[in-house]
Amino acid sequence: MPDIMQVLAEDHANMRALMQLLENEVDKMANGGRADVDMISAVAEYLLEYPDRFHHPVEDLLIEGMRAAGAVPASSVDALEAEHRRISRLAGELHEAAVAVTSEQTMRRDAFVECARHYISALGRHMDIEDTDFFPRAEESLSAEVRAAIAARLPDLDDPLFGTATRDRYRALSEALLAE
Ligand SMILES: [Fe+2]
Ligand SMILES: [Fe+2]
Repeated sequence: MPDIMQVLAEDHANMRALMQLLENEVDKMANGGRADVDMISAVAEYLLEYPDRFHHPVEDLLIEGMRAAGAVPASSVDALEAEHRRISRLAGELHEAAVAVTSEQTMRRDAFVECARHYISALGRHMDIEDTDFFPRAEESLSAEVRAAIAARLPDLDDPLFGTATRDRYRALSEALLAE
């Protein structure tokens, strides 16, 4: 089992690549071009499936561990839990919007563009704070043993896109990411 901090950092790198891909498609849509709506809907589905069920809960456990270790998290770290709930809500909205934009009852494309850009910027800012503030503090205040204990409490969830076996649903998305 790799160190949990390493897993989280890899998740971030993966998410940034994914957000870049989403942003490219959203820009095409905003400019009246042909966006790959199947790809957009796969991204939206993945966001509900992995970050909300694995990545954010792990970070919440780390924050809990920091409190238990008496390392009072800075206010910026404290706010992360609330942000996880907010990002989760935004992922739900993005997913609904993606379903609407790909279905027959088409959503207005500018509304989808706005929704997607909102998600991309919220997640980007959130990861910036974690990379520069939260992760270094967690490394500093939690021993390797505590981190291993947290890792042992995690659900055994393989990343369906970036993990060891890419699920069929995400095959095209995975290939697009590799081509970037
Ligand atoms: Fe987070
Ligand atoms: Fe994160």
